[in-house]
Amino acid sequence: METAEIRRRWLRFFESKGHAVVPSASLLYDDPNLLFVNAGMVPFKPYFLGQETPPWDRATSVQKCVRTQDIEEVGKTSRHGTFFQMNGNFSFGDYFKAGAIEYAWELLTTSQGAGGYGLEPEKLWVTVFENDDEAADLWVQLTGIPRERIVKRGMADNFWSMGVPGPCGPCSEIYVDRGSEYGPDGGPAVDEDRFMEIWNLVFMQYERGAGQGKDDFPILGDLPRQNIDTGLGLERLASILQGVDNMYEIDEVYPVLDKAAEMSGKRYGATGGQTAQDSHPDDVRLRVVADHVRSSLMLIGDGVTPGNEGRGYVLRRMLRRAVRSMRLLGVADPVLPELLPVSLERMRQSYPELQRDWGRISDVAYAEEEAFRRTLTSGTTILDTAVERTKAAGGTTLGGEEAFRLHDTYGFPIDLTLEMAAEQGLSVDEEGFRRLMTEQRTRAKVDAKAKKSGHVDTHLYREIADSLSAPVDFLGYEGVGGEGRVAGLLVGGATGGRARAGDEVELVLDRTPFYAESGGQLADQGVIELDGARVRVTDVQKPITGLIVHRGVVEDGELGLGDHAVSRVDADRRRSVSRAHTATHILHQSLRDALSSTATQAGSENAPGRLRFDFSWGQPVSPALFSEIEARINEVVLTDQPVSAQVMDKKTALESGALAMFGEKYGDEVRVVSIGDGSWSKEFCGGTHALTVGQLGVVKLLGESSIGSGVRRVEALVGADAYGHLARESAVLSQLTDIVKARPEELADRISTMLTRLKDAEREIDAIRRQQVLGQAAQLAETAGDVGGVLLLTHHVEAAVSGDDLRSLVLDLRSRLGEERPAVVALASVAKGRPVVVVATNAAAREKGIKAGALVKVAAGVLGGGGGGKDDLAQGGGTDATRIGDALGEIRSAITRLGA
Ligand code: ALA
Repeated sequence: METAEIRRRWLRFFESKGHAVVPSASLLYDDPNLLFVNAGMVPFKPYFLGQETPPWDRATSVQKCVRTQDIEEVGKTSRHGTFFQMNGNFSFGDYFKAGAIEYAWELLTTSQGAGGYGLEPEKLWVTVFENDDEAADLWVQLTGIPRERIVKRGMADNFWSMGVPGPCGPCSEIYVDRGSEYGPDGGPAVDEDRFMEIWNLVFMQYERGAGQGKDDFPILGDLPRQNIDTGLGLERLASILQGVDNMYEIDEVYPVLDKAAEMSGKRYGATGGQTAQDSHPDDVRLRVVADHVRSSLMLIGDGVTPGNEGRGYVLRRMLRRAVRSMRLLGVADPVLPELLPVSLERMRQSYPELQRDWGRISDVAYAEEEAFRRTLTSGTTILDTAVERTKAAGGTTLGGEEAFRLHDTYGFPIDLTLEMAAEQGLSVDEEGFRRLMTEQRTRAKVDAKAKKSGHVDTHLYREIADSLSAPVDFLGYEGVGGEGRVAGLLVGGATGGRARAGDEVELVLDRTPFYAESGGQLADQGVIELDGARVRVTDVQKPITGLIVHRGVVEDGELGLGDHAVSRVDADRRRSVSRAHTATHILHQSLRDALSSTATQAGSENAPGRLRFDFSWGQPVSPALFSEIEARINEVVLTDQPVSAQVMDKKTALESGALAMFGEKYGDEVRVVSIGDGSWSKEFCGGTHALTVGQLGVVKLLGESSIGSGVRRVEALVGADAYGHLARESAVLSQLTDIVKARPEELADRISTMLTRLKDAEREIDAIRRQQVLGQAAQLAETAGDVGGVLLLTHHVEAAVSGDDLRSLVLDLRSRLGEERPAVVALASVAKGRPVVVVATNAAAREKGIKAGALVKVAAGVLGGGGGGKDDLAQGGGTDATRIGDALGEIRSAITRLGA
């Protein structure tokens, strides 16, 4: 059964059982604890915790997930994939253990003809949490599974949480027995390869606190209701229903593996052992390629771009590991242009947006491969220098710092350093390298912790909120100052203390003018003066509804609960952010006017002097239309209409045509911000704004681009920042007019004429160079000499010629050497910084068993690359141009050996 069909059946089954079908959230779903969504329940977390009211009692989804902590295991076991899909069914205070067990059993064991998955009941095993007799009894009563196939396991195996404070509960897992060829009998506790876990039913009923590992954390209490969260591994079930060994061989993944095998000439499984565990290294590499190519496709699809930290780093690492694995398989040419389209072909069935966004996705991936190829070239030079230095000093080991620097600065993977150092007869101080890596990781972790200052358990915030007699009174719509009292204080993440100079604090006031980051508007900054103390506020957040938390440092004095507080928001910054927010509303409505009312807001950021606005739209906005939109925005600014806000009930607001943000939850009372009389722009909005649109001065749109499937982003500058930008551009323009000696309006024509002439000149130079090279043929042919009865001509062509020219010259020379005697021509040159070698043989040479393809392999090996071709003509390349002489020498030796 195809993976797409398994997915369809899943959604259909649970829909027929009254579940709302919820589309997969983006992999980048916003949860401060997660790099990527790693379970189906992530988007539903606020419902489990009771922080928000779910719109339905039951839901089902097939959620895209990425887990990367086991990235080193990919390809080595049959179960680990970095990208996978989790099928889930969820109950929010509706059905509980019995319902979850019944549904799971029904769907798994109903025959395929009747719409189920048709697994044989005798092959299923289940586990339950050690003291959950209730679940064990329900399994027996509801499904008739014999008690021998119900295994009790402890907290580490059968108690599920996200690994961080949040919802949790005992769980019950379903396993499939894959048969004796996969391992010993005895159930999941004995062998998790033979008994493969496919489905985890979590009886979500508690909230946990901070702690270590899978079983060492406090249970803080019951959740408001008993819930169900389940997760079935779509790829795992697919491997079973498709009768293949592991997730790399299923229909959504295998075609990439197959293509990689074809490109490298390796036969998958040819040399491997029986199971993934004892595979040949080439098989592992092929699986790594298949997994990472697919994960990269999905990550870029959701808007990740390669970078050096966080999500971007994960993507970069996967793309580079895929390219590197292909190199180890002997493919030196760009690989992603061959592999990524194969993955797209499989994945677009379930994710059609990948096809729509293919231009952007492939650009990002291919550019990263190019960047990595350049890294390999420059890293090689650095490595060679280090090797020479080490050798000159009489050493035999390359230092750990060198290996670390290559990794850190040039992105050179350690296995590559090891291999290339070994080729030059050196070992590498791996231990030193690993020590430096660990130190760097520790530094990174400390950084990350510091960044997430909101890492206090939410229950502390809830305690503070419960202790308030009324919700915090927000004064910031009227002004930037105000008085209040300290109503809550966390020092270093704990309650109950007093704070002193130098302490990092989180402060709650009963009344505050500070705007907490929300609705895309960044937080205010400023100062809070207390009786004898001063706190510099750097961030303001609303970790739970109704609570405004000021984060900052005590600059002076000492403070405690109950202190009188005078707040002063940085007024310039606030005004600048407010202008950006008003500009966002004008931009939103202008886009809707110009494109369509379906171009709705998908996210935004309003910062001092600039804004970012994301909207749903499937294709680029043409430059002409984009300029029109910008002009329109600035016309609106000139009208200087007032901006005003009214609070009203939600129904009235919606009826008046105010725009609400899709997917946002609003209370019964809402705030509506209008420009002028509101007939043109009126939005649900809790933010702060300019008093009139005229205060914006100028709005300059910077550009528009795609950031994910069907979502585009506009960035803009507002007010003084917009003016500064225009002034700088105008200065650049006058510089250009000076250099080119043309008037501004002539510049475009003038430069494009210059570029055309430059190109023509380059083409002419190429043609001359080509003639020169080809013109050497007669002279070169004279240099052929006898090597063991073979007429051999080797030559390093010093001029930079293309592979094509080199081939023409080789063919010309071969015909000049005639057909009477065995003849071989081998030429090398450097094209675009990389060595190229071309070899041709005549028929007489081939009869003696001398093959061009084999000779090219010998030479390319010396050059640090690969290549191949036919017996009569072959081409290869490498990375190390300094070894061309050696490479040609190796060809000579190889022929001597054959001739002997
Ligand atoms: N949330 C559960 C898991 O990820 C179903 O295993």
